[in-house]
Amino acid sequence: MTKDLLSVSDLSHAEIEQLIGQALAMKQRGIQSLLSGKTLALLFEKPSLRTRVSFDLAMCQLGGHAIYLSPGEVGLGRREAIPDVARVLSRYVDVIAARTFSHQTLLILAEHSSVPVINALSDMEHPCQALADLLTIYEKKGRLAGLTLAFIGDGNNVANSLLFAASITGMNFCIASPPGYEIKKEILNQSRELAAGSGSKIQLTNEPGEAVKEADVVYTDVWTSMGQEAEAEKRRLAFSGYQVNDKLLSLAKKDALFMHPLPAHHGEEISAQLLDSPQSVVFDQAENRLHLQKALLAKLLLPAKPRVASK
Ligand code: CP
Ligand code: NVA
Repeated sequence: MTKDLLSVSDLSHAEIEQLIGQALAMKQRGIQSLLSGKTLALLFEKPSLRTRVSFDLAMCQLGGHAIYLSPGEVGLGRREAIPDVARVLSRYVDVIAARTFSHQTLLILAEHSSVPVINALSDMEHPCQALADLLTIYEKKGRLAGLTLAFIGDGNNVANSLLFAASITGMNFCIASPPGYEIKKEILNQSRELAAGSGSKIQLTNEPGEAVKEADVVYTDVWTSMGQEAEAEKRRLAFSGYQVNDKLLSLAKKDALFMHPLPAHHGEEISAQLLDSPQSVVFDQAENRLHLQKALLAKLLLPAKPRVASK
């Protein structure tokens, strides 16, 4: 694995399986002083509930400590050049989790910091969410390979990370987006290469009903992501036929899970009561951010165990 976690595609299939296994073990054990004396900087350009709280708590439960730097406080690239922020923070903390508008900002931070940088959401990816989602699917279904995840909506950061996650682990991925809001070509090409090694099938459509036909998981996210607020009205119109509701869910497999990274806009991408559906596992997803990120922090900060040579 690289020093940083900027994209799900930084991880191999074996590393993802190891993270899920470790997260399941940590979920059982709760508090463990593995990272005593270690500090995480949470460098955020955008608001957050889940990511901020789960990372802070993850450090706390592992015996370490987190420092939250709120949007506007550091002035990344405005008050201070991004490389300088990276070099200064590297002298103080052991790991940085950054939530940025532009993915480019993360790449610069990672290049100039001597400590690991974790993508806590950028305009391109949300790897911690996708990895926690894999953990949730694995817990509920007992496997990943061969399942089908249908994503309804925007080809956005969450969709990109889920597509990589599915392509690496052998899950099939079908996305239904309105014309003009599909997953970008470069991401698709990269995921097709990853899928060639795992047997995952990738499909794109403009028809939500078509996407969910064989789905074991129906997933959606907001129509307007953070940073796109000026496009909200235009997007509401473009996505109006892309709501996940009981009718659409009934077209998927009977035991399909409903997933959403939250925050949700009730009455937009989901119908009013959908989070309360017996098929909804959204709060398990939110909880699993904590367990998965504990495993990730331990992986990035603790030396790898030496392999025992076989005789
Ligand atoms: N799902 C997620 O990342 O939530 P926050 O934006 O609240 O961190
Ligand atoms: N796509 C959303 C995800 C929020 C967790 C956004 O970027 O705002």
